Amino acid sequence: MNVYDSELVAGLLQKCGYSKTDDIQKADVIFLNTCAIREKAEETVHNRLNNLHYMKKKNPQLLLGVLGCMAQNLKNELLETKPFVDIILGPDSYRRIPEILKVRNKVGNHHVDTKLSKFEIYEDMFPSRNEGVNAWISISRGCDKFCTFCIVPFTRGRERSRSMLGIVQEVEEAVSKGFVEITLLGQNVNSYRTSEGKFHLLLEKVAAVSGVKRIRYTSPHPQDMDDDLLQVMSEHENICNYVHLPLQAGSDRILKRMNRTYTQQEYLQLVDRIRKFIPGCSISTDIIVGFPGETDEEFEETLMMMESSAFDSAFMFKYSPRPGTKAAEYSDHITEKVKQNRLERVIELQKKISLLRNQRHIGKSLPIMVEKESKKSNLNWAGRTEGNAWVIFNKTNEKPKDIVNVLIQDAQGVSLFGERILEKELVHEIN
Ligand code: 5AD
Ligand code: SF4
Repeated sequence: MNVYDSELVAGLLQKCGYSKTDDIQKADVIFLNTCAIREKAEETVHNRLNNLHYMKKKNPQLLLGVLGCMAQNLKNELLETKPFVDIILGPDSYRRIPEILKVRNKVGNHHVDTKLSKFEIYEDMFPSRNEGVNAWISISRGCDKFCTFCIVPFTRGRERSRSMLGIVQEVEEAVSKGFVEITLLGQNVNSYRTSEGKFHLLLEKVAAVSGVKRIRYTSPHPQDMDDDLLQVMSEHENICNYVHLPLQAGSDRILKRMNRTYTQQEYLQLVDRIRKFIPGCSISTDIIVGFPGETDEEFEETLMMMESSAFDSAFMFKYSPRPGTKAAEYSDHITEKVKQNRLERVIELQKKISLLRNQRHIGKSLPIMVEKESKKSNLNWAGRTEGNAWVIFNKTNEKPKDIVNVLIQDAQGVSLFGERILEKELVHEIN
């Protein structure tokens, strides 16, 4: 989402006559687009700002801006420790950038705007994307779910959806610029709805755009995964057989305390339903360990759920208290040592599960999108399966953005290794 927002801001700056530079020393304006989801993300920004302070001392004309969730979260407070920052804008205030840059060039005081909007969806602003395979397209902004650990509803405000027409036009524009994979984005992507219809209808419209070879979406909430959506996914070749389905925790008591709105049983039934509608579908997840009050037994239930769900991959985090959220107020926080130990255990377990899941592909031919040269050898490509796993395979006559058949021969760590099957051989095999 932040990559997409940065591209939106880059598009806006280009319109005002600015151009991107890879040489930071040459920059007239530097914006940091920030994340506030965990404490570590905020620490990273503080460190980066301290480094940029040196540049600002050398060049007082340099404009320094902090955008996004951390700007929204800290507002004027950021100026108390970082008075050298010129501009602080929350996620709904980017339209003000041109006007601020004009005025700022003349006067020179701080600009802080962190008003959240119920309506801002940046409908008529086109992002300036870097070249590549995948184009991110934001379809909704904000979140109304209020999971008790999460700062997002406070930093990104109320949930709102863009029009289907605007999204489809942006998909068409991305395709015309050479992008072949589209990832639809939203904090709660599958609760997308407009007067025209719900998320599954939008997905169908995007799948019908000519030139879209692959479609992904992130992140859905288990509560909003309905059969209409799974049906549409199963019917369209270009919608990847892949779902990122954040579990967060395994025990019913912790799920309730997190306000996740589903039980262990309901989640497992959903996993079954996904695999029934879409055989072979890959599923990844997010896990938080050490949520306040999580007992050893409850943590074991998370491990059990990871095994039962057989996730292809997982993003795993230690719980990080976010001031202002409900969970931060709970009195039974878990020690850092226990959180660290639990994190190591989930990582260890997921490594084994991912390897097993990847090994199931050995001996099969999978459609792989050619994405880039392998880092280890210029004789090989790196590409992804529909399920989002990286595959290393030999170069023949294909080029980036082609989807080709690769015979999977090995699985190591999180990567697959294979050999390109040339169409001639495939015909021969079928005969
Ligand atoms: N602490 C740790 N992880 C968090 N996430 C969100 N808030 C927190 C927090 N306070 C994780 C969730 C979410 C992912 C994007 O970040 O797992 O799905
Ligand atoms: Fe945060 Fe996602 Fe929960 Fe919304 S649904 S509050 S973004 S974790």
